[in-house]
Amino acid sequence: MNLKTIQIKVEEYPSMEALPDKDRDLMQEAEKAMEKAYAEYSHFRVGAALRLANGKIITGNNQENAAYPSGLCAERVAMFYARSQYPDAVIESLAICARGENFRIRDAVAPCGACRQVMAEYQTQQQQDMRVIMKGQEGPILAVDSVNNLLPLMFHVEELKKNK
Ligand code: THU
Repeated sequence: MNLKTIQIKVEEYPSMEALPDKDRDLMQEAEKAMEKAYAEYSHFRVGAALRLANGKIITGNNQENAAYPSGLCAERVAMFYARSQYPDAVIESLAICARGENFRIRDAVAPCGACRQVMAEYQTQQQQDMRVIMKGQEGPILAVDSVNNLLPLMFHVEELKKNK
């Protein structure tokens, strides 16, 4: 047996002011989108904003449903909308933030596994790394320069071709 250690790289920024300008601008868009979230059941509002290589900024927020699993996370709302409108667009970066309506979110919000898988799909397909910036209501803002740092050992399309 070989024990392999996989490292991930995560950037930490103490505040919005400390973020690189492009990240801060994108996060401000995510914050605006967060206020329009439909979070009737969890009261956990999430906003997402992504920057396309064609210069467009697309936003999304979580959309909940009384039949809970029918809802969708902010990140996928934004990514699916972006790729449905601009099928060839490269997603350069994605900013995500969250706030509780009656509680405080102390850590940077980290995307769920399903959203990471969708990011992995687009990153693999576009052959360009996607930067992801994450923010809560307190604590440092985190950023990764590639989805590889969010989803090590990811499943991607090349796996489907392994036996061909
Ligand atoms: N949620 C997101 O929109 N993005 C995340 O990264 C984490 C979770 C949403 C789904 C649901 O509407 C609420 O937050 C609570 O899970």
